[in-house]
Amino acid sequence: MCGIVGYIGPKPVVPVILEGLRRLEYRGYDSAGIAVGGSRGLELRRAPGKLRKLEEVLHERPVEGTYGIGHTRWATHGRPTEENAHPHRDCTGRIVVVHNGIVENYLALKQELIAEGHKFITETDTEIIAHLIEQEMASAAQTGKNMVLEESVRRAVRRLTGAFALVVICADEPNKIVAARFGPPAVIGLGEGEYFVASDVPGILHHTRNLYFLADGDMAVLTPEGVRLTDFEGNHIERPVQRILWDPIQAEKGGYKHFMLKEIFEQPRAIRDTTLGRISLDTGKVFLSEMKLTEEDFRRATRIHIAACGTSWHAATAGKFMIERLARLPVEVDYASEYRYRDPIADPNALGLLITQSGETADTLAAQREMIAKGSRTIAICNVVGAMITREAHGVIYTHAGPEIGVASTKAFTAQLVALFLFAVHLAQSRGTISADESRALLEELTLLPGKVEEVLRTIDGPCEQLARTYSTASDFLFLGRGIHYPIALEGALKLKEISYIHAEGYPAGEMKHGPNALIDEKLPVVVLATQDRSNRDSRLRYEKTLSNIQEVTARSGKVIAVAVREDEEIPHVADHVLYVPQAPELLLPVLDVIPLQLLAYHIAVRRGCDVDQPRNLAKSVTVE
Ligand code: G6P
Repeated sequence: MCGIVGYIGPKPVVPVILEGLRRLEYRGYDSAGIAVGGSRGLELRRAPGKLRKLEEVLHERPVEGTYGIGHTRWATHGRPTEENAHPHRDCTGRIVVVHNGIVENYLALKQELIAEGHKFITETDTEIIAHLIEQEMASAAQTGKNMVLEESVRRAVRRLTGAFALVVICADEPNKIVAARFGPPAVIGLGEGEYFVASDVPGILHHTRNLYFLADGDMAVLTPEGVRLTDFEGNHIERPVQRILWDPIQAEKGGYKHFMLKEIFEQPRAIRDTTLGRISLDTGKVFLSEMKLTEEDFRRATRIHIAACGTSWHAATAGKFMIERLARLPVEVDYASEYRYRDPIADPNALGLLITQSGETADTLAAQREMIAKGSRTIAICNVVGAMITREAHGVIYTHAGPEIGVASTKAFTAQLVALFLFAVHLAQSRGTISADESRALLEELTLLPGKVEEVLRTIDGPCEQLARTYSTASDFLFLGRGIHYPIALEGALKLKEISYIHAEGYPAGEMKHGPNALIDEKLPVVVLATQDRSNRDSRLRYEKTLSNIQEVTARSGKVIAVAVREDEEIPHVADHVLYVPQAPELLLPVLDVIPLQLLAYHIAVRRGCDVDQPRNLAKSVTVE
């Protein structure tokens, strides 16, 4: 959360920074600001609200220069006002800082700095960083040291606890940008005579594909001559230049009205790419190449702990069904934000699984560290190559969904379900709990999935738009499912509430009679996941019980929107509306179930005039706990 872009080079600085911020706006959009250094010294412009407000300010009061830094904010400390918008300054106004993260010891530092005579004008934790650097620069100046800014930033960051990616410029040392990272991501872009810093790749990908990914404890100094990397002690370090292969166009809307809609329609490709090269239909084998764990490690495991947040937690909960069903290993699923605080019983025989689109969610990283500290080995399912979580993991399964920009996750979710399915089959093979024939049959079904998703997208978008017309004014929604469909009901409810602001709850269908039935009246739309795998006895049983639950809702005048397989003969008689998907094995049905729910949420949000890609109060990468 919070997006940072810095640039030094021959191009006009403001457009480069604004364009970068626009691509990083998914990280936060409570306020935005920019600081540019040029012949008139350092000039700042800031505005509460989205980037376009800052653009209006810049239109009225333009700035120009040869280097600069910008920020788009997701508020943590301090309301989203202009005053609290980044960049922040020291007492002299000569040191300017943008920051992503949280300084946990800011109150103690603030008191210390106030005692030294510093004056604070904002409610933010970031402002103390500017004053700390000011303090360090003042003492360095007394000793006549060289590299004053760089050394002062280094000393200042050593005093911070918490998480930070920060970028600093100073009027006394023009044409220099200093960046430091501990926690939230920071990448350095290497162009021809121009250099960039950003919170994430899309912020600078239009200018260069050659990047350094800073690690925790790295600092970078950007000047027109090049980039120097050091650690927080000042030792010179080397990082490999990584070349980014994805096309910048992948991070554009490509003719769709919203990123979310584009990403929903990209799901067939995301699923194909996540499967590609990982299965052999001849042998029925799954190949997971980025895995430092052996088959023996998988055989020895006695249980699996999964930790994740938000939509990734829903994938994790569906993954529990896949792993337990196929590999016969007990699985515990935790919200990552809860995991460390319950003193979990983890040990070397427990495998840790972290699921995260971004690979930088602070709670998920903290859960991973807790698992590792207790002796467990960890595997990350992640969508961002080289993300923090992948560096500390013993194995990685990348979801190849491509960049996901919409704050509400869609294609990353279905790609996570596919990665979990592959992992479950792989684990089951290693543990000998499924035969080669069973495995081959499952993998064959997996290869059919992208085509089925295409079919759903082709046939269901119109009906979902129709339903949105009827139900967009509802004030509450219920989503019901049983078994592996229950986490999908939770995901349907989350999608609707996050983008349309309608209150929605996901519930296990069988639990309705223990309370939620009291909510049902003729105004309540109830979305029921009633798909089934007719060849599977458990699936048929679950379906029959779900059918009874539908009757219970209609008997109380609730409006039922059912998701069912195309061949279903009973659902049309009991539900008010039916959204059809093709048949699939029980463990793969969730991938098909969720698509109508994504589209329903999308069309309802559009009808309600909501900001689909950037819902209020949310951000895509949550780098604070
Ligand atoms: C935020 C996003 C969600 C996402 C969650 C976990 O809340 O808005 O879409 O599911 O973080 O993010 P992760 O990157 O760890 O999957």
